[in-house]
Amino acid sequence: MDEGSLSCPQCERSFPIRDGIAHFISAQALEAADRRFARFYDWFSHVYAPFTKLAFLPFGGERKARKEILDRLELNGGRILEVSIGTGANLPYLFESPTIGEVYGLDISPGQLARCRRFVTRRGWPVDLFLGTAEALPFRAESFDSVFHIGGINFFSRKKEAIDEMIRVARPGSKIVIADEAERLAQLFARIPGLSRSYQGEKVDTAVPLHLVPDTMEETRLDDIWKAHGQYHGYCLEFRKPG
Ligand SMILES: C[S@@+](CC[C@H](N)C(=O)[O-])C[C@H]1O[C@@H](n2cnc3c(N)ncnc32)[C@H](O)[C@@H]1O
Repeated sequence: MDEGSLSCPQCERSFPIRDGIAHFISAQALEAADRRFARFYDWFSHVYAPFTKLAFLPFGGERKARKEILDRLELNGGRILEVSIGTGANLPYLFESPTIGEVYGLDISPGQLARCRRFVTRRGWPVDLFLGTAEALPFRAESFDSVFHIGGINFFSRKKEAIDEMIRVARPGSKIVIADEAERLAQLFARIPGLSRSYQGEKVDTAVPLHLVPDTMEETRLDDIWKAHGQYHGYCLEFRKPG
C-alpha cells in the first residue's frame, strides 16, 4: 500500500503510510540524540552508496564484506527483518537466495528509507518498510524467522533495549545476527571531515555488546570480521533464540 494507515487494536492508535513507508515515529517525538542521528543519515543517504563501496574496498569489496555477515542467516522462505535497513544495501545479496521469503526493513531515517523504497521499487522486490526505532520495534512478538542488524548499534544510546527487541520479535529457534565496526574502523571514519562533524557530540561505543545478550540465548558466537592488512575491523555477534 502506498498511502493509507495502519491501526493498532492494542494501543488504539493509527499510523500513517506515506509513499509506501509506515510511519511509527515522528522527528519531534524522538530523543535528541536519535533526532540528530536521523537527521545525519537523511543527509548521508545522498552519498551512502558510494561511501560504503569505498569503505569496504580494503576488506575485499562490498559483496565479500556484506556476505561475511549475511551468509550466517538461515533463509528458509520465512519472514526476515533488517533492523536499520538504511538504503537497502544488503538486499541484493538477500534476493540472490532462492529461499528468500518476506522481507521487512525498519530505520530511523526518512531519507535512508525513501532511497531504499525507490531502490526496491525499481528492482520490483517486495520489501515492507517501517519508520521506527530499533529500541521499540512496531511488530508483534515472535513475528520473524530471522532478524539482523548491521552498522548502527555502536551509536545506539539504548543498546540493551534494541537487542531485547530483536529477541522479542524473533520466533523461537530463529537466529539473530548483529554486526558493526570495531574501534579501528570507527576511528578511521571519525577522521573523515564531513563525518566527524556530524558525529560530534554523539557517543560511539565500539564495545561488542556480547554482555547484553541474555544467558538464555543459545549458540552465542562472536567473530572478528572485515580483515585488512592483518587486522580485523568489525565484529559479528550471532545467537539463537531458544526453540
Ligand atoms: C551505517 S547505516 C547501516 C545501514 C544498513 N544496515 C547497511 O548495512 O548498509 C546505520 C543505520 O542505522 C540507522 N539508525 C540509527 N539509529 C537507529 C535507531 N535508533 N533505530 C533504527 N535505526 C537506526 C541509521 O538511520 C542508518 O540507516
